[in-house]
Amino acid sequence: MSNKAIAAAHWRPAFHLSPAQGLMNDPNGLIHFAGHYHVFFQWNPHACTHGAKSWGHASSPNLLDWTIHPPALEPGDWYDSHGCYSGSAWVMDGRLWLIYTGNVREGTERKSYQCLAVSDDGIHFAKQGPTLHHPPAGYTTHFRDPRLWQNEDGFHMVIGAQRNNGSGTILHFHSQTLQNWTLCGELLPDNKHGYMCECPELFTLQNRQLLLFCPQGPEGESWPYPNANASCYCSMDQNDSGFAKPQLLDYGPDFYAAQTMQDLDGKRIMWGWMGRPEQPHTPSVAAGWTHCLSVPRVLDWHDGQLSQQPHPALQALRGDCLQLANQAISGQWQHPGVHGECCELDITLSTTDGSACHIMLRQGPHCHTRLSWLPAMEELELDTRHSGTGDGRISRAPLPASTRMHLRLLLDRSSLEIFANDGKVVLSACLFPDRGAEGISLLADGSAHIEHLAFWPIK
Ligand code: FRU
Repeated sequence: MSNKAIAAAHWRPAFHLSPAQGLMNDPNGLIHFAGHYHVFFQWNPHACTHGAKSWGHASSPNLLDWTIHPPALEPGDWYDSHGCYSGSAWVMDGRLWLIYTGNVREGTERKSYQCLAVSDDGIHFAKQGPTLHHPPAGYTTHFRDPRLWQNEDGFHMVIGAQRNNGSGTILHFHSQTLQNWTLCGELLPDNKHGYMCECPELFTLQNRQLLLFCPQGPEGESWPYPNANASCYCSMDQNDSGFAKPQLLDYGPDFYAAQTMQDLDGKRIMWGWMGRPEQPHTPSVAAGWTHCLSVPRVLDWHDGQLSQQPHPALQALRGDCLQLANQAISGQWQHPGVHGECCELDITLSTTDGSACHIMLRQGPHCHTRLSWLPAMEELELDTRHSGTGDGRISRAPLPASTRMHLRLLLDRSSLEIFANDGKVVLSACLFPDRGAEGISLLADGSAHIEHLAFWPIK
């Protein structure tokens, strides 16, 4: 390893899935099969750039201990010569099936085939070739990311699509046999979702139908968010009359292409790609890898809102707990036991005068990451501009008016995941702080209190 690579090695996450080398993006084909959770992911093993993607593969019996397997799919056949793009998995007749988009480029022309692969052992996959050869009339070859599920009436899938007029939508297909597919219709009939909708998924949570997808380049009134490309969700109207306005799944700068599955207890769990399509500068490239996945998050639906929480399995990673209660923050607050690059912080703050309270993370002499609770603005603000050598920015998330706020933070060397108000507001960011920048402190502009704090180093 070069000196630069050795210097960059300390950003390797301890408990997030990251690529041994090259670039990782979307989680794919999340499934439980033959006693293991399987997480596949978009992977360019050859360079830290987007390119002809393989399906990387990891499996775990418990969501904690991961084994990395050889790639499940590699590009190179006539129907996937320029990439085995995103897709999904299901189990049928005791075998593990994958469906993915075969990306083919011929000069400036693109072709998209929806292809199948199957495995008996969950490790070695045999490609079966295309099951759907081209998009239906009226749609361009921006047609990818099949998410398939099986019902009593056969197979269904949703696929991200672009209309011939250049607007993005999602198409729903049905087939009895996995061969002739019938187009059932568009899930997003209007023109408000940018030029393409990537990575769609449809599922039911607490009797509510939810649609996850990633609109690319949406703008105007229907998109009141700064992110040019973002993972979002819509819920089906109570009367089944259509999907409500999209909401961001995550307000941070680095979360995209989420996919879900059900765990063994039936909980709906979601992973996302901690990265973004705009290709930010990630200094871990000096060590030969870039991006990671989020932790698995449990989804819940209450009072018309989605919430996300780190999967409870992750609690097994916690070291000894430090607990504190009722601490006034006069100016600055610090505690010798509260610092780290791999840790979890659970904190309830209160304020009586509506003034701001700031949590400084990964603090060192030359860097810090600032998370500010701004009760007067009803906002949470994450500032990663001084986090280190990555591409920082300010991200803002709306909070309901309140004199209290609960936060759960997960820090893992180059990642930060923030779950506010029981996971109703979530922000994720990649950080590249200086080595040894482990400080955590709180600053109050006025009168603020720590009602309760729990801190765990992560083992
Ligand atoms: C989303 C995406 C998908 C595509 C894959 C290619 O990040 O662009 O639409 O299948 O990544 O890696």
